[in-house]
Amino acid sequence: MDSIAIQGGAQLNGSIPVSGAKNSAIKLMAASILTDQPLLLTNMPRLADTRFLGQLLRQFGVEVTERDGADGQETLFDGREIRSTFAPYDLVRQMRASFNVLGPLLARTGHARVSLPGGCTIGARPVDLHLDALSKLGASIELEEGYVSAMAPKGLRGAEIEFPFVSVGATEHTLLAAVLADGVTVLKRAAREPEIGDLARCLIAMGARIEGVDTDTLTITGVTSLNGATWSVIPDRIEMGSYAVAAAMAGGEVRLTRARADLIASLTDKMVEAGVEIAPTEDGVIIKRDPSQRLKAVDVATEVYPGFATDLQAQFMALMTTAEGVSTIHENIFENRFMHAPELARLGADISVQAGEAKVTGVAELRGAPVMATDLRASVSLVIAGLVAQGETTVGRVYHLDRGFERLEEKLGACGATIRRIKGSGDEH
Ligand code: EPZ
Repeated sequence: MDSIAIQGGAQLNGSIPVSGAKNSAIKLMAASILTDQPLLLTNMPRLADTRFLGQLLRQFGVEVTERDGADGQETLFDGREIRSTFAPYDLVRQMRASFNVLGPLLARTGHARVSLPGGCTIGARPVDLHLDALSKLGASIELEEGYVSAMAPKGLRGAEIEFPFVSVGATEHTLLAAVLADGVTVLKRAAREPEIGDLARCLIAMGARIEGVDTDTLTITGVTSLNGATWSVIPDRIEMGSYAVAAAMAGGEVRLTRARADLIASLTDKMVEAGVEIAPTEDGVIIKRDPSQRLKAVDVATEVYPGFATDLQAQFMALMTTAEGVSTIHENIFENRFMHAPELARLGADISVQAGEAKVTGVAELRGAPVMATDLRASVSLVIAGLVAQGETTVGRVYHLDRGFERLEEKLGACGATIRRIKGSGDEH
């Protein structure tokens, strides 16, 4: 397995283009199941996760063609004929979000058999809200041998669904099913993450009728069929936020392009409080920090959008490891999302974790060491810490990073980071 080696100490100066959002792309890809006409997604990131889902879609009979277009990478989906509605465990377990093919398969064909996604390292992450919502839309659901078998032979029908709490996945999944249901569906306490807005707008471009986009109540009037469309994937706010934190950590001046500053306001507000200079631009943001000035510790608590994103918590913790003072970090979305803390401690960070709260006491410097993480965002937090750790940091299990960061070492290297990929090693420490 590959690892990434970083020699700490270099400032970052230059420009980094932000890719299309992974967490939008994979939901938009699932939307291709809903139509027998071509769906062209532009600004498509090329990631392990989009590859997994492409493989799964091919298994259903959707033709998936990756190519270069006028505006960069794009992928054409042609779901003229759905030949199978079976999603095996081997494909679903590799990426939890692939469970979200259940709703669109059901809406298009009236039946589907999809493996349950299983647990993951950041918590139990059940799918009860997804299944409750599909049942309310009229699907009959059976769980057997780790699989969900769902049937709606006469089609789905609209319903009023109030989620007990906010779930990104359950909101998207229900939306992907309700657009083809008979009648009106109202989703209350819906998630408002920008990727859901992106999905809803794409569905509208495909002929869906959705009101309340970007609010917590979505009203969907079902249509009998959807058409194809061309849609540009929204910029990846988590990738953008990760590079913003990397620039703040290393010092220097980095311009993030092909992005949207408004999507990471909850992060940049905290970075400004800590002493980072932030200047929004027309297509992104400039991050500037004088590395001779120590940052100040600030507290954060993760919340649903527009609050501080849980997917940026690990990166922010890395930034706080060398800030002056004590930072308290609350994780409110997932019950077990501090696995990066002991790894950051291997680099010399002073972090104590109790239940959903981490206390980070800033240290004067970090020292390089071999580390590894068990999830995507935790892995990038270790790369960020490695940018300032004295000597060499090697981050193992890079396949986590490859799930969600396109050409990470190339993008950071272009700004002056001393970073390289080591092929086929680095898993065992
Ligand atoms: C999405 O996960 C993202 N994944 C996550 O990003 C992100 O951290 C999360 O939203 C929160 O923003 C994708 O978009 C592919 P949830 P999701 O449903 O949809 C509980 C990354 O690194 N819950 O909003 O799974 C759940 O356990 C990933 O890119 C239930 O109890 O998140 C969690 O505690 C990691 N029952 C909370 O709700 C359910 O049926 C929020 O989960 C569904 C969720």
